[in-house]
Amino acid sequence: MPSRPPKAAKVEEETGRRGFLSLAVGSFMALGFTSLAVTGGLFSLGLARFLFPNVLAEPPSSFKVGFKEGFPAGKVETKFVAQYGVWVVNSDVGGQQQIYALKTVCTHLGCTPNWLEAEQKFKCPCHGSGFYKDGVNFEGPAPRPLERYAIKIADDGQLEVDKSKAFQEELGQWNDPSSYVPV
Ligand code: FES
Repeated sequence: MPSRPPKAAKVEEETGRRGFLSLAVGSFMALGFTSLAVTGGLFSLGLARFLFPNVLAEPPSSFKVGFKEGFPAGKVETKFVAQYGVWVVNSDVGGQQQIYALKTVCTHLGCTPNWLEAEQKFKCPCHGSGFYKDGVNFEGPAPRPLERYAIKIADDGQLEVDKSKAFQEELGQWNDPSSYVPV
């Protein structure tokens, strides 16, 4: 078989080198454009988050819990603890029957006590503080009673709790008529 003329072999070699070069340049450019597109996308996302930040929907500070009749004498209603952080209690306080809303925050270091129906007391699982049904502390390290939130009868006759106002027994604030509803 006759050997190829040296010129033809050189042309072929040259063509192969150019092909390789243009492929390399093409790949490099494609990579560059892809990185640019990704960076641009990330930037746009960041910008969008900056312009439209997540807004945490806070639960309203005032909420209705139902009519007085739903809170019989002596009962501690625990169904609002998870959503609103309150116990609604109907109890005798100093000879007067009242409905009041107790804040579910231990006055020692802020844990959430449990209502123990059998023992008729709130008991904090963290360091053992105990509180009577009226919220007054009687055992453990809690230095003062639980706090009350404001409560009133709303226009539609339901009890409405307002967490924007708190009342402390040790400051004499439980005498404030906004801290309870007489029954
Ligand atoms: S947090 Fe309740 S006893 Fe310490």
